[in-house]
Amino acid sequence: MTQVKSALVTGASRGIGFGVALRLAQEGIQTAIVGRDGRRIEQASKKITDITGTQTLAIVGDVAIYSDCLSAVDAVVKKFGAIDVLVPNAGIGIIGSIAESDPADWAMMMETNYLGTAHIVKAALPVMQKQGSGDVIAIVSAGGTKGYPEWSGYCASKWAVMGFMDSFAQEVIAQGIRVSTLCPGGVDTAFWDDLNKDINRAGSEGRSKLMSPADVAEMVMLQVNLPRNVMLKNALFFPTTEWH
Ligand SMILES: NC(=O)c1ccc[n+]([C@@H]2O[C@H](COP(=O)([O-])OP(=O)(O)OC[C@H]3O[C@@H](n4cnc5c(N)ncnc54)[C@H](OP(=O)(O)O)[C@@H]3O)[C@@H](O)[C@H]2O)c1
Repeated sequence: MTQVKSALVTGASRGIGFGVALRLAQEGIQTAIVGRDGRRIEQASKKITDITGTQTLAIVGDVAIYSDCLSAVDAVVKKFGAIDVLVPNAGIGIIGSIAESDPADWAMMMETNYLGTAHIVKAALPVMQKQGSGDVIAIVSAGGTKGYPEWSGYCASKWAVMGFMDSFAQEVIAQGIRVSTLCPGGVDTAFWDDLNKDINRAGSEGRSKLMSPADVAEMVMLQVNLPRNVMLKNALFFPTTEWH
């Protein structure tokens, strides 16, 4: 059983973030969740508390806005007193060939996927430094390890996260803070409903063949439960119906 007491997960009103927050709460970890839609994040928080009996904090915020991230961290520290685990997860996907893409969509993905991660990391860093411990486990993507046709803007935003986290990990490794990047392949979430294109994913036989948010949560727990002197730098993992 883990000694971890509290966690903060961004983009957790549904999908991977919700699955990760639920699993953390099932381990008895008080978990704060962030999302832009107030009704959705409140409902998610209530659901987690109802299922697990663990106290959950819903925070309305947009990770693309740095002041929202500072406020979120403040709220968690006031409520739970610490942030032992931070999971920057909030992300969006807009795809298309470079020829047909709108540069405004590239900017939006950089703001949410890359800056959203950088903002919450910077906001939570002083808290973890004061604690002298913490785990930052970013949900990136297989798209952070290579490029895919039609996914240029998305992959670029995820590669930006990888570069940021690699530098960050080395800055804080001697301070008791472990930094991991998780790079999942396909996960069955509403991300695919909201995607601007109906795509046939190469190597995938459909949504039912993808991983579940619970599978990603399992990887988060793997890092959380490792002995404190050991860390998982990066994990690329995917369903057995894919190859990356
Ligand atoms: N699904 C996959 O196959 C897959 C694979 C690899 C990696 N990923 C990555 O995993 C992460 C989660 O994906 P998912 O599939 O769970 O997506 P999802 O089902 O679309 O959920 C995204 C969550 O993020 C929140 N969100 C979006 N923009 C936000 C912002 N600016 N500030 C705060 N919250 C925000 C959404 O709530 P609101 O809209 O209310 O803010 C929602 O709760 C993303 O980073 C994605 O790139 C997904």
